[in-house]
Parts: sequence; C-alpha cells; structure tokens
Amino acid sequence: MAIEKVGVVGCGLMGSGIAEISAKAGLTVVVREMNDAAAEAGKGRIAKSMDRAVSKEKMTAEDRDAAMAEITFTTDLKALADCDLVIEAIVENLEAKNELFRALDGICKETTIYASNTSSLTVTDMAAATARPDRVIGLHFFNPVPVMKLVEVVKTIATSQESVDAAFEYCRKVGKEPITAKDNSGFVVNLLLVPYMLDCIRQLERGVASIEDIDKGMMLGCGYPMGPFMLCDFVGNDTTLRIAEIMFEEYREERYAPPPLLKRMIAMGLYGRKAGKGFYDYSGDQPVPMAL
Ligand code: 3HC
Repeated sequence: MAIEKVGVVGCGLMGSGIAEISAKAGLTVVVREMNDAAAEAGKGRIAKSMDRAVSKEKMTAEDRDAAMAEITFTTDLKALADCDLVIEAIVENLEAKNELFRALDGICKETTIYASNTSSLTVTDMAAATARPDRVIGLHFFNPVPVMKLVEVVKTIATSQESVDAAFEYCRKVGKEPITAKDNSGFVVNLLLVPYMLDCIRQLERGVASIEDIDKGMMLGCGYPMGPFMLCDFVGNDTTLRIAEIMFEEYREERYAPPPLLKRMIAMGLYGRKAGKGFYDYSGDQPVPMAL
C-alpha cells in the first residue's frame, strides 16, 4: 500500500520535522494541532527550517514554496479521514495517545496506518487500544528530524508485514534509512544511548572530570558530533529522565536507573536547551557549564 497522504498530529519539535520532510518529498500533508495558536507556531517552525535550507542553498525558494503548499494546518481531527498514514507526535503520555487513536478509529478509512513517534512508551499498548492493531506501528525519528538519517520502525507482535513494508517505503521516500526494532522499551538506539548518557552523569557525580572535559573527551576522542552533556541538554533532560524511568521500570537494571543529579536538575527546571539552562547555561553567546 503506497503512502501518498500523511497526517501528522502534534506540530512541536518532532511533528514539525516530520511534516517538513514529508512535504519536501512531495507527499500531501495534513497537520493537526490542538488550537490555532499551536498550529500557527508549528507552521512558523516548518517555515523557519525550510528558510534555513534555502539560505544554505540546499533547497530553492520555489521548492520551499511548493513544499509549504503541500501542508494543510487544521484543528479538526476529521481532516485526517483519508490519510494513508497518520503519525502522532503529541505529548509522551499513553492515555493521551490512546485517546487520540480511539478517536481516529471512528474517523479514518479502514486502511489507514497509525504510527507513533514515541521514544519510550510501548507501541503494543497503543495497538491494543485500537480496532486495527495490525496497522499500528512505531516510527521513531531523531532530533533534528531534517538532519538525522535514521528511523526506527517498531513492529509489535500484532503489526502486519504489509504495514511494515508500507512504513519502510514511506521512510525511504522521505529520505530516511529505516531499521526494524522490536517493541521493547528503548527500541535499539535509546536502549544503548540512554545508559551512556546516564553513565556520563554518574561519572560527573563521582567527580571523574568536569562537564566540559567529559564532553570534549567524547567529541575529540571518539568523534561524536556532540558531547554527552550537550546532547542531554539537546534532547531535554526531562525527556531523558522520563525515558530512564520507563526503561528502569521495564528492565529493573541498574544502568537504566536515573542518577540523583538528573532528578535534582529536573526539580530545579534545568531541562536543557529549551529552558535556557541544563548542564550548560545558554543565556550568553556561548554555552557556559553550570556549577552542579
Ligand atoms: N534543522 C535542519 N537542519 C539543521 C538543524 C535543524 N534543526 N540543525 C542543524 N542542521 C543542519 C545545518 O544546517 C548543517 O547543515 P550543513 O552542514 O549542510 O550546512 C548541519 O545540520 C550541521 O549543523 P551546524 O553546523 O549548525 O551544527 P553542528 O555541526 O553542531 O551540527 C547537529 C548540529 C546536526 C545537531 C549535530 O551536533 C549532531 O548530529 N548532534 C547529535 C544529534 C543527535 O544525537 N540526535 C539524536 C538525539 S536522540 C533522539 O532524538 C531520540 C529521542 O528519542 C531522545
């Protein structure tokens, strides 16, 4: 089943990126947000990202205009009725996602595939809430969506091979490289990445080295594009804490346990880049390591 029309629910950081790459690939995109202000903010985010691509000469102004024209913004869920694929990128809350999928069951055509961009929840729990578990899949994109090449295609024990094939085709059409992951907490990437970030925080707690030197160590010693603390701030420390809690709950292994420092930082609102402060303070021209 070919994917021609894509619905994106939630136009925050991830949803806007997914809408952008889908429109750039020539697909028809319907973006649904909760209210006009959120839809307008999402539209602005997509326009800004495409303008950046034009200014870097990665895209012509004509192609940008054509891609923007492929996207319709709405607050009405019914506008997703004839989408071939609906990808949700709403708040990371199982009940909110299940409520959305249950509502879509009464709206979307029978063949519509539902995808979740969840980074930590179990896709099977969403599939079980719908009347079409064989057409529910995980599509885990990475931040920043226009740049990162990977998508994890998460197959539950109920997902049909036809849905997996359609998801792979969609990923390739939007310029991404898909891999298949089982529906275990963390899939492939977060299963390995999150313990690394948590371990770096534990080493900081132990006083092994400073924030700056641990970041420098991993960037210059291993060629990582960002050090672990810069990455934590980029991902969002609240997000990392939540993923760690869910993975610890699932596996009961020490390496997934959130370090106390991370919990204390969240208590103080040090969410990372989006909050202006995390492991670094972003209020000046250059990030300055925090005294933690
Ligand atoms: N949108 C579009 N393009 C962007 C972008 C964005 N938000 N941010 C950066 N870019 C592009 C730039 O235009 C630039 O393109 P060019 O080289 O063709 O000119 C290129 O990416 C590099 O950007 P910059 O020169 O501005 O900055 P950097 O070289 O520092 O790269 C980075 C920025 C791409 C974010 C890089 O630091 C990186 O790859 N970091 C690691 C990101 C990562 O690990 N992401 C995964 C997080 S985990 C996750 O998402 C899973 C979740 O479940 C937790």
